[in-house]
Amino acid sequence: MLIAQLTDTHIRRPGTLAYGVVDTALYLEAAVAHILALAPRPDVVIVTGDLTDFDDPAEYARFRALTAALPMPLLPIPGNHDSSAGLLAAFPEIAARCDGGRVNYVVEDFPLRLVMLDSTVYGCPHGQLGEEGLAFLDRALGATPGRPAFVCAHHPPFLTGIRHMDVQNLSDAAGLEEVFGHWPQVLGFTCGHVHRAVTTTFAGIAATIGPAPAHAVSLALDPQAPPTFHMEPPSLSLHLFTDGRVVTHRSFIGAYDGPHPFFGPDGKAIGTPERA
Ligand SMILES: [Fe+2]
Repeated sequence: MLIAQLTDTHIRRPGTLAYGVVDTALYLEAAVAHILALAPRPDVVIVTGDLTDFDDPAEYARFRALTAALPMPLLPIPGNHDSSAGLLAAFPEIAARCDGGRVNYVVEDFPLRLVMLDSTVYGCPHGQLGEEGLAFLDRALGATPGRPAFVCAHHPPFLTGIRHMDVQNLSDAAGLEEVFGHWPQVLGFTCGHVHRAVTTTFAGIAATIGPAPAHAVSLALDPQAPPTFHMEPPSLSLHLFTDGRVVTHRSFIGAYDGPHPFFGPDGKAIGTPERA
């Protein structure tokens, strides 16, 4: 099972640029083309929040148009630039999976269960699962403790060292850690928000932040550094569920020189020096 992770696409209305600089739609278009060209194709695409820049129905419509060519299920959760209601209005098929106004749902269709969590706090940049979200996760994991699970949210529950992002983290990370402590079948956790590929452990499980296909939050570990972004090489996470674990690859979007063979027709490594 192969999962492609899109995150923080920040789609805007046509003719406008994110932060006056980034044509985010072009980057999403390239990311979609990249996913379509992967062999094997991912079984599913998760979208860990900030689909839109301003939670505007026109932005969701544009996101849907830009991703319409993806033949596999697309599983979004909201980020702080979206809202739960805005996302559910734009994705009625996701609303049908949710019980109430929060975008909390479980996907049972694959060997790895996907637990999608809504970490948004309306009108605020930081995240919170809330009692409802934590109880949902605990119930979901308790329903089939024998099935491996992968959990997704928008906000990181751990510090990255990028101060202006860290202050917007998940405020109830301790609650998430406690729930994970009950259920050892959780093989991994991923999120977005920081627009960078980041890896750590959280509650003893592998935890990643997926990189964004457009602008990256600057890698500024100086606590005094102002909030800025860089246009780094676009990429996305590919999570491969194999041999009982989740292996996360970073897949760079764009054309790169290669593939070059290692070995020639004689079976020897190309360029092996002749020895006398
Ligand atoms: Fe974002």
